[in-house]
Amino acid sequence: MKLRSKITLLTITIAVSVVFLTLLSIRGIIINAFREELEKRALSVASNLSDRVANNILLKDNFQTSKDINEVLNKEDDIEYIFVTNEEGRIIAHTFNSELPTDILLWNPLNNRTTNIQLLDTEKGYIRDVGVKVFNSTKSELHLGIREDDLKSTIMRLRKITVPIIIFVTLAGIIGSFVFSRLITEPLNKFIEFTKVLGRGEFGKRVDVSYGDEIGYLARNFNTLSMELKTVKEKMEEAYTYTHLLEAEKVSTIGQISSGLAHELKNPLTTLKMLFQAFREQPDMTKEDAEVINNEIEKIDTIITRFLGFVKQKSFQVSEINVNTLMDRVLSLCSFDITNNDIVLQKDMTETLPHIKGDRALLEHVFLNLVLNAVQAMPNGGKLNISSKADVGFVEVVISDKGGGIPSNIRSKVFEPFFTTKENGTGLGLSIVYNIVKSHGGRVFFDSNNGSGTKFTVRLPANN
Ligand SMILES: Nc1ncnc2c1ncn2[C@@H]1O[C@H](COP(=O)(O)OP(=O)(O)OP(=O)(O)O)[C@@H](O)[C@H]1O
Ligand SMILES: [Mg+2]
Repeated sequence: MKLRSKITLLTITIAVSVVFLTLLSIRGIIINAFREELEKRALSVASNLSDRVANNILLKDNFQTSKDINEVLNKEDDIEYIFVTNEEGRIIAHTFNSELPTDILLWNPLNNRTTNIQLLDTEKGYIRDVGVKVFNSTKSELHLGIREDDLKSTIMRLRKITVPIIIFVTLAGIIGSFVFSRLITEPLNKFIEFTKVLGRGEFGKRVDVSYGDEIGYLARNFNTLSMELKTVKEKMEEAYTYTHLLEAEKVSTIGQISSGLAHELKNPLTTLKMLFQAFREQPDMTKEDAEVINNEIEKIDTIITRFLGFVKQKSFQVSEINVNTLMDRVLSLCSFDITNNDIVLQKDMTETLPHIKGDRALLEHVFLNLVLNAVQAMPNGGKLNISSKADVGFVEVVISDKGGGIPSNIRSKVFEPFFTTKENGTGLGLSIVYNIVKSHGGRVFFDSNNGSGTKFTVRLPANN
């Protein structure tokens, strides 16, 4: 059975029971009061009549006695009978039309009492026999039997109003309990619906219950929980997306790099192969030959080390990052290269920068590559400018050097894996930078003019 039906049923039962019991006790009070009143009246009638007939009894005027009692009988509607006994206890007058009941004197014998009331259960209902002594210490008595006619009609009337009252109360109970149960079950239903919503994973929704009581308190807690679940879900989704994004990027980059790797390794390996073929014919190894071998082996080693370094990055560790702090660390890593190349560093960092979200190690890699490229672009010293700022939902970092710039004919190639113009470069730096920034939802681009330096800009989404 639903909670609402239970509340309705309970309220109606309580209301009807209360009304029924109230009416029952009112009925009891009315009946008692009525009977008391009836007995008082009967006693008074009997006493008056007894006074009236006393003289007749003394005068033995039974006719007058009979007349007097019949007169009273006719006057009072609810008197059933009257009879009078003389000093010897014999009935001298009565109002019975038919034969006298044989045991009439045993109905309510007074003996030594002056008055007595006896309840008689007869075919005509309850009759009170009210007996009074006409003369004390004789057997002369007057008895009258009084019916509960008025009481019956009162009870009938009471019964007539009881039924509509009960119907009315039941209806009022139904309406009342309907409203009452609605008050209770409506928020409960909302909560039930809300738990279903949460169960479906729709976090962040709110249960619309604004009571100031315990239910309202519960609603507020539910809403807080929903918001917390939303945050947790978002964080998990973010981490998941980042990880997958990066994995996808890495796989495609590895694909690109692997084919380039084979190509890049081919050159030093061909050189080595040619040298060793020459040794087979002429086994003397000159110092120059040894240097070439050494250089080629170093090249192979660098390529493989950088490739492995990129592949080794296993999982994406998302955290909140302050780009300024990250840049400080990168600059301390390259401080040797900076001072060694007579480079003047100028920083212009915005202090209240919003955080970004991403993998610290990978982003360090990005800025390290860019700073090293800038340093390498100024072999005879120069000015290195690094700035950061917030820009509508993004954090922007600019690394600019006063080096020779990127010639226009190679501008479209610098982000390709293994494109390098440096003797000992692998050409992997910028391709890695590009992929990492892209996997963080950002962009990297440059602005370069021959002879007037290069400006690399990295834009990463701010974490608001
Ligand atoms: N700041 C810069 N100024 C001038 N040229 C640049 C600059 N940055 C990159 N380049 C050009 O782009 C090429 C590719 O750069 P990338 O970082 O990918 O490889 P690399 O620096 O040559 O090698 P590695 O990064 O392995 O040392 C460089 O060889 C260089 O010609
Ligand atoms: Mg580089």
